[in-house]
Amino acid sequence: MKLLIEGGRRLQGRVRISGAKNSALVLIAASAISGGEVILDNVPKISDVLTQLEIVRAIGGRASWTGENTLCLDWSGPLEGELPYVHAKKLRASNLFLGALAARQKRVKIPLPGGCNIGSRPMDLHLKGFHLLGYQVSMKHGFIEARAGKIEGNRIYLDFPSVGATENIMMAAAGTPGITVIENAAREPEIVDLAGFLNAMGGRVRGAGTDVIKIEGVSEFRGARFSVIPDRIEAGTYLIAAGISGGEVTVENVITRHLQPVIAKLQDVGLDVAAGEDRITVRRSGDLLPTDVKTLPYPGFPTDLQSPMMALLSLARGTSIIVENVFENRFQVADELKRMGAKIRVKGQTAVIEGVERLYGTQVRATDLRAGAALLLAGLAADGVTEILQAELIARGYEKVVEKLGALGAAVRMAGDEGGEPGAKA
Ligand code: EPZ
Repeated sequence: MKLLIEGGRRLQGRVRISGAKNSALVLIAASAISGGEVILDNVPKISDVLTQLEIVRAIGGRASWTGENTLCLDWSGPLEGELPYVHAKKLRASNLFLGALAARQKRVKIPLPGGCNIGSRPMDLHLKGFHLLGYQVSMKHGFIEARAGKIEGNRIYLDFPSVGATENIMMAAAGTPGITVIENAAREPEIVDLAGFLNAMGGRVRGAGTDVIKIEGVSEFRGARFSVIPDRIEAGTYLIAAGISGGEVTVENVITRHLQPVIAKLQDVGLDVAAGEDRITVRRSGDLLPTDVKTLPYPGFPTDLQSPMMALLSLARGTSIIVENVFENRFQVADELKRMGAKIRVKGQTAVIEGVERLYGTQVRATDLRAGAALLLAGLAADGVTEILQAELIARGYEKVVEKLGALGAAVRMAGDEGGEPGAKA
């Protein structure tokens, strides 16, 4: 798929933010623990969610949309079959079935996950946690297998506050007798959402959102109804779109405190930010100012908005520095932005961005989901038409992105790879 954007239009208006991809994906996996019926509200209909539902069906779960964004999952049947590699390799979040199926049936075998090529993305912290809970863990022939030995709660220190490792260990511990304490746990809002969901199904999880999470294992779980939190990364992307296009955008249906680090950075860049409880308005009133960005685990600046910020800072009046502290290979979008006229020098985990007067529309390629989002943002500000190849990567994490941007006044459309002559009007 190809996305065509004709730049130069200031975005104006309001956009309703969808449910969080990185919460929905883990809640869909965790719902298997219920052994019954689960209803999830505010689920974004994005391709990563559809892929995760293919895995649900392949292992014996049933999944159907009972509303625009309401999902009904039924796990009352027997679990069977293995996670199909054809789906598991498409997204990293397939690895979240490890904890869910361990809690449900005390043994699990999953293909090593795929996902974005933003780094090696090992699973050593996940496996350390399983081992400490008493699971025999093996990794061979591209599969991870975990079988319960004598399992009981334990104290698990994470060398790095890994989101996925925290989530997998929380789920496995929820069905492991005794008390488990995860130290140096991830503090992301999506972790808090998972804890709330596990508790709604009968789990006993305390401390989520802090770096110490205590889980008391239970033997019985039940179905539940739960609503996914809004997507702070989608919201941040639209706020950056307001800044880069020179317009004024209000994101609605957000949890403002989840965006504090992003709001602070946008103010550093010179944008006017008005924040309410569940809405935030960003308005461009002058030049974009350079600033420095260091990505960190929550509540630091989110790595998932690093590439979008690189696009914004490409047009700042001065030199900015970005340090990527979470993933080891997340500057790939720099080469594509340079094709549009950006001046960026990457050295290891640091990118130096020398702001330029303008960017130029040309043909570029999305290398991963957030790189695709960054190129979309750059296209909004560029002179002429930008064509983004592999634009299906953007649909992995942004629900109705063409409709939402169009409603804000952007000239954007999807085309098949054969569609649209280079430089065709968007
Ligand atoms: C989750 O990935 C998100 N994905 C990512 O969002 C997000 O960027 C990331 O957390 C960090 O916030 C989902 O929730 C589905 P990590 P995850 O484990 O869990 C290293 C997006 O664009 N690490 O916190 O895979 C790892 O290599 C995606 O929406 C180990 O070394 O991230 C990385 O450098 C991209 N060993 C760092 O930790 C392990 O066992 C952070 O990874 C696990 C991780």
